[in-house]
Amino acid sequence: MVLRQALLTGARSRRLRKLVSTMPVSSAIVARYVAGETADEAVEAARRLLTDGLQSSIDYLGEDTHDRDQATRSTQAYLILLDRLHRAGLTRGAEISVKLSAVGRALGSDGEKIALDNARSIADAARNAGTTVTLDMEDHTTVEPTLSILHELRRDFPETGAVLQAYLHRTEADCRDLAYEGSRVRLCKGAYNEPGSVAYQKTGDVDRSYVRCLKVLMAGQGYPMIATHDPRLIEIAGALAMRHDRSRGSYEFQMLYGIRPQEQRRLADLGDTVRVYVPYGDEWYAYLMRRMAERPANAAFFVRSLLTR
Ligand code: FDA
Repeated sequence: MVLRQALLTGARSRRLRKLVSTMPVSSAIVARYVAGETADEAVEAARRLLTDGLQSSIDYLGEDTHDRDQATRSTQAYLILLDRLHRAGLTRGAEISVKLSAVGRALGSDGEKIALDNARSIADAARNAGTTVTLDMEDHTTVEPTLSILHELRRDFPETGAVLQAYLHRTEADCRDLAYEGSRVRLCKGAYNEPGSVAYQKTGDVDRSYVRCLKVLMAGQGYPMIATHDPRLIEIAGALAMRHDRSRGSYEFQMLYGIRPQEQRRLADLGDTVRVYVPYGDEWYAYLMRRMAERPANAAFFVRSLLTR
């Protein structure tokens, strides 16, 4: 718990970012979780996954953008990625994930408008390419603006996916609001360092909340996207799908690139839709730190790779 908090705090440290970011993206620990630095490498990863029967949601890494040019560059990066996916004929199996903070949400009082405009251009390009966008969820202070941008975006692009985090007290109610027909909702546990005033702190409480949220989504009319590597939750999701007579294809499983790849293939072999979240780009530091925080064994391996470079 202490190590998890230290790593999540470290995810925001500039000094640590500077030190860790000198590691090459090809180093084993980074390459396990990040597909590469360029759009071509991301497209290649999506192609490999598709050959294995797995779909993907590609994330151009970047967050907490405080500079308008950077927000424009991130938006451009998505447009380029969508073009490459389209040309490669991969948009049936690959969608994209976007963090609103990467496309401008944190840019002062105009931030929400800038992020909405940028997200709209990305959603438009995605639709023209034949695919969809899902809006990632960041720390709890961003939930309201993210949901409000989601609602705006869904007026023109109802296919836009949402992410909800089971560790937040509010999420079961958000699941009820979003369990309507056509609504794509990715349910994850949540990856940020959140206070007890807004989030469950104990693993068991987070898991129980996940199950309650899952019950709402599976009983509802929307399209649940079950984003977890937790074997118990995956089993419960399967049982709930049977209870609600959901056919395969009326929900999907999602996992992160590099985590439990055999389980990804096992579920796909059973006929389930499985989508892998594929991050790429040179801003991989904060993403990597969150993955380290999820598993103490990773953190030890990570510190060793830093020291023995
Ligand atoms: P948990 O952390 O309990 O892990 C269950 C098991 O999975 C572990 O016992 C281990 O076997 C394996 N595992 C998990 N993490 C691992 C790791 N890093 N390395 C190796 N093995 C690991 N969060 C968020 O706040 N906003 C978001 O938008 C998203 N988006 C998102 C998309 C997708 C597709 C996924 C799968 C996840 C996210 N997340 C996220 C991250 C999510 O909130 C959560 O932090 C991780 O998925 C880990 O939680 P699990 O549910 O896997 O459970």
